[in-house]
Amino acid sequence: MNRILVTGGAGFIGSHFINLILSENKDIEVINFDNLTYAANLSNVNTSKKYTFIKGNIVDDDDLNNLFNHYSFDAVINFAAETHVDKSIENPFIFTETNLLGFQKLFYKAMDNEVKRFIQISTDEVYGPNDNSEIFDESSSLKPDNPYSASKAGADMIIKSAMNTFGYKGIIIRSSNNYGINQYPEKLIPLSIKRLISGEKIKLYGDGKQKRDWLSVTDNVNIIKEILFSGNDGGIYNICTGVEKKNIDVAKFIIESVNELMGTNYSEFNDIEFIEDRKGHDYKYTMSNAKVMREIGVSSFNDFDSGINDVVRHYLIKYGVLDENTI
Ligand SMILES: NC(=O)c1ccc[n+]([C@@H]2O[C@H](COP(=O)([O-])OP(=O)(O)OC[C@H]3O[C@@H](n4cnc5c(N)ncnc54)[C@H](O)[C@@H]3O)[C@@H](O)[C@H]2O)c1
Repeated sequence: MNRILVTGGAGFIGSHFINLILSENKDIEVINFDNLTYAANLSNVNTSKKYTFIKGNIVDDDDLNNLFNHYSFDAVINFAAETHVDKSIENPFIFTETNLLGFQKLFYKAMDNEVKRFIQISTDEVYGPNDNSEIFDESSSLKPDNPYSASKAGADMIIKSAMNTFGYKGIIIRSSNNYGINQYPEKLIPLSIKRLISGEKIKLYGDGKQKRDWLSVTDNVNIIKEILFSGNDGGIYNICTGVEKKNIDVAKFIIESVNELMGTNYSEFNDIEFIEDRKGHDYKYTMSNAKVMREIGVSSFNDFDSGINDVVRHYLIKYGVLDENTI
């Protein structure tokens, strides 16, 4: 593999992925194509002589034509998306535009240019919520329940249809909630830390008992890289740890961790506020990770309880309330 295109590489997961490839696979050239929305931060990507950034929009035909006329790619990995469910409730159209139409333009461009490998970064949310007894595997039906997940599920359907209609086999990766450094502070973990240190309460939707399977972004990008090299064309892969946590428990972890690092005395009773539930809030999406463990050889995952302290520490330093040299 000589050159890969990473779209959305200035975002949270995409930047971790690029940094991993540049550090471990020094022969591969990476083109990062991103239109730098509010969620992007180019300084999170390490540069190298094998790395090129191109500002461009996957919805824009001219941007895509210029890109594909100038370069040929051995693989395309699409991280570019609008990703915040709350925003998709306020403004669903941009989600359909980017996550569905933009995706389709990129995907068809890759197909027309006979790019050998196309990886779409999808989400556990495309399955919709499940009850306590149900576990989604890769053949479960898609029942998305909010505008974000509907736009992501649409993209998965387009890949399925292209396989049947044109014989072009994209790979779909459905990851659970990622946590790690350099995430834009609109998502639960960085936002809660930011609120706490600004003297606000952590806000939890409803009763805070919604469950999510928290996957370290480091694990996620390592597995995505393995799938890039050894996944099956046309395959679908769930990536999750198999361990779920309630949002309220994540908030408690954050409070404990901040207290430990800063010597503060925040408490779950004084510093958590329960607010009106998100419209159509999905309770949980329990997936099976058996396939990725069996076929890609994943054997273990980072443990959230021990990893969260490092992540909290990173945000406290980033937000300027903890000295980098504090142990
Ligand atoms: N963060 C998670 O927990 C999570 C979980 C499962 C799946 N995913 C999926 O992983 C992918 C990456 O998520 P993330 O959290 O890194 O997102 P993010 O919001 O941090 O970053 C998205 C990136 O896409 C870029 N982008 C947006 N619209 C674009 C467009 N039209 N053209 C080019 N670039 C565009 C943005 O500038 C940004 O750099 C998304 O597809 C998301 O659906 C994320």
